[in-house]
Amino acid sequence: MSAYVHGYGERESRRLQDQAATLVELLHGDTQFAPGSTVLEAGCGVGAQTVILSEHSPDALITSIDLSARSLELARLKVEAAGRSNVTFRQADVFDLPFADETFDSVFVCFLLEHLADPVSALRALRRVLKRSGQITVVEGDHGSTFFHPDSVVARRAIRCQVQLQAQSGGNADVGRSLYPLLDAAGFGDVRVSPRMVYADGSRPHLVQGFTRNTFTAMIEGVRSAAIDAALMTADEFDVGIRSLYRTAEHDGVFCYTFFKAIAAR
Ligand SMILES: C[S@@+](CC[C@H](N)C(=O)[O-])C[C@H]1O[C@@H](n2cnc3c(N)ncnc32)[C@H](O)[C@@H]1O
Repeated sequence: MSAYVHGYGERESRRLQDQAATLVELLHGDTQFAPGSTVLEAGCGVGAQTVILSEHSPDALITSIDLSARSLELARLKVEAAGRSNVTFRQADVFDLPFADETFDSVFVCFLLEHLADPVSALRALRRVLKRSGQITVVEGDHGSTFFHPDSVVARRAIRCQVQLQAQSGGNADVGRSLYPLLDAAGFGDVRVSPRMVYADGSRPHLVQGFTRNTFTAMIEGVRSAAIDAALMTADEFDVGIRSLYRTAEHDGVFCYTFFKAIAAR
């Protein structure tokens, strides 16, 4: 990862928390790890998913790693504030894991592969530290799955700015659709992928607020300067795109986005 496209600022930290809180049931309702089992969470960031994992599996032993020392510190504080004691944090690179072969019963990855230039190598590295009976869970988004009402060509262009910038940093914001081939190529077996669609309309105000506004549109807004600096859009065009995305959060607007969740055996 040459440059983390979302950055590590306070706003991004809040966005990740909003995203995790809004999507907890959709993405993690069926994620549970057995009491006493060992779990590696790779790319834990500020701990938005870590707390959920810890609460859903209070007796599992979770090791959460990230490249960023600052994010790990925020994650540690968040887990402490939630009164959880089954998580250990460690600064580490997913491509150079400081663990022996076959250490963990489970591996959990959420919104990490989208930032990596070589996701298959990362998955191979994670497979190495899984026990033979182990299982990996991967959750990723796919910006190409976005559609909304009222439709807007300019809003779609603003979204593509994020996709292009992420690609320039070596990532792939459309990675969700590739989970099956990526896991297969990395040597995992029994790969099962389930698409999880967020559908937000006026009858679901918590999703409109938590997802359409605070998660998705906030994320696209976050690349405004980078998109303008890279001459992908003018400032005026970009701002129209953002206004059009917020327009889909009004009472007669609709917003759809699909995440992909994969489970595979070592
Ligand atoms: C979008 S954040 C996701 C954080 C968290 N999983 C969540 O869902 O809220 C991606 C995280 O992956 C971390 N990361 C990127 N490359 C990494 C690598 N090679 N090894 C470990 N962590 C990495 C980044 O530092 C960042 O915290």
